[in-house]
Amino acid sequence: MTEHAYSPEERAAIYRAIAERRDMRHFSGGEVAPELLARLLEAAHQAPSVGLMQPWRFIRITRPELREAIHGLVERERVKTAEALGERSEEFMRLKVEGIRDCAELLVAALADGREAHVFGRRTLPQMDLASLACAIQNLWLAARAEGLGLGWVSL
Ligand SMILES: Cc1cc2nc3c(=O)[nH]c(=O)nc-3n(C[C@H](O)[C@H](O)[C@H](O)COP(=O)(O)O)c2cc1C
Repeated sequence: MTEHAYSPEERAAIYRAIAERRDMRHFSGGEVAPELLARLLEAAHQAPSVGLMQPWRFIRITRPELREAIHGLVERERVKTAEALGERSEEFMRLKVEGIRDCAELLVAALADGREAHVFGRRTLPQMDLASLACAIQNLWLAARAEGLGLGWVSL
């Protein structure tokens, strides 16, 4: 153990958040306080990124019709995925793979336009921008767990 290590309690909390982070698809409603949401987004923004390009953009969806449209997109993808699974399609259709209509906050994690200009660290592996975005989402996810909030990642 080095002098830079956290205290035993702090270390335990970090490992606990990592171990207890789960993908959530059921939500109990309610609201996320603005200060709490700001803390979560700050955690996301502190993620590492290739060449420090910080390619992530988090878009907060507030219009019900947009939320509904996003749900529709995911539903269409769910059906296409089931079709692609062939004999396992029915089994897949029984799975819950999103909670878009029920979650208190819906955030879209996107990659910024014009990022082709950033070649530092991603000339050979351009997909490192996506890897950086994933790091930001993971930070958000762990912070949400520590705050007692469930978070689900929907990529469908
Ligand atoms: C990149 C990525 C995409 C994911 N996409 C979906 C998704 O579209 N729908 C879903 O229900 N879960 C999705 N998940 C959650 C995984 O299914 C989940 O993390 C995995 O089953 C392990 O469960 P746990 O996160 O509770 O440990 C995604 C997770 C990751 C990392």
